[in-house]
Amino acid sequence: MPTASDILDLILSGNAEKMADAKLALAALEAAGSDDPVAIALSCHVSASEQRFDDLRGFLRKIAEGDPSLLGPFFDALLKLGGMRRIAGILHRDGVHRTGGPLSGLLGLFHQTIYIRGWTVTKPWPLDNSRMLEPVQDRMPQACRDLVRRINETGQGMGEPTPRVGGEVPWDDGTVLFNLVAQTRPRRILEIGFAKGMSTLFMLSASDSIESHTVIDPLQGSAYRHNGVKNVTQAGYGDKLRLIEMPSSLAMPMLLADGETFDLIFIDGSHCFEHTIMEALFADLLAEPDTLVAYHDYHMQPVYAALEFMRSNRGWSGVLASDVVIMRRDRAQANMQDNYTPFATARGKS
Ligand SMILES: C[S@@+](CC[C@H](N)C(=O)[O-])C[C@H]1O[C@@H](n2cnc3c(N)ncnc32)[C@H](O)[C@@H]1O
Repeated sequence: MPTASDILDLILSGNAEKMADAKLALAALEAAGSDDPVAIALSCHVSASEQRFDDLRGFLRKIAEGDPSLLGPFFDALLKLGGMRRIAGILHRDGVHRTGGPLSGLLGLFHQTIYIRGWTVTKPWPLDNSRMLEPVQDRMPQACRDLVRRINETGQGMGEPTPRVGGEVPWDDGTVLFNLVAQTRPRRILEIGFAKGMSTLFMLSASDSIESHTVIDPLQGSAYRHNGVKNVTQAGYGDKLRLIEMPSSLAMPMLLADGETFDLIFIDGSHCFEHTIMEALFADLLAEPDTLVAYHDYHMQPVYAALEFMRSNRGWSGVLASDVVIMRRDRAQANMQDNYTPFATARGKS
């Protein structure tokens, strides 16, 4: 029977077939009642059954009551899987931070360990950076291409003319989004800042993997006369679109409270600092371990400052393609008041 470490390697390989094997092997380990720390970390992350959460509580008690040597392999596996948030969530849900006692000490230890050991998970970067500007030409369906061209050239799509409240992504940046989706094949996309749907069309037309594309924009009806919805429907993607007509500050916490997560998040909203940093922090919470979060308009100082914070204090890093920054979480990083890292708030300053 494969060991828990073998299963961890299978899961980290990212291969869908191996993932199925890994789940079967893990189920066998669970059935055998394994209390291997790596197995516990794996099943908390992969199977998430209530039974396993009970096992986790028992396991944590065991560590807290005197067997701290189990902690290292458990943390290592969890961090590789990006699962710290879920475990911290379970402990918080149980109220251990309020009740004190050994488990509450352990929660502090979780944070300390991440901070002190500065764990970095080295995962392969999922994009071919050299191909982010590869022309979309023949890969985008004709009807969508015509519509995107029309918006690009005239600033208008299918609906009645509307004022330009915010500009749509230029062609090159749309091309980056298209290639990002074509290469990573996400299932659930979240987008902040919809306008006339230009960026949405680049993404939706790039891959048939997309099951749902959620857009957040408070001005879609009032300023844009639902032009974005009309354009996406005209291009044939209306059934995948979900519009939340609210500011991101209300919509993102709502999605989080509903337990939603996304495989790809694109942020192109108001661009002021307080909105961008709030959106980045909620994107962090709405992200799966391998989720990529892309930000438009890196040339803008508020966007730059917000992303510097995510890089220096939240464990995110990324690449710049045209004016789009594509980031992912390299390591789980829990912040406490004493591990704040000063960061550059403007290019060339700190
Ligand atoms: C630059 S435009 C987005 C362009 C769009 N991504 C495209 O390529 O067609 C910015 C959009 O952000 C929206 N917006 C402004 N404030 C917002 C907020 N607080 N939450 C979400 N969206 C917001 C605006 O209504 C506008 O549609």
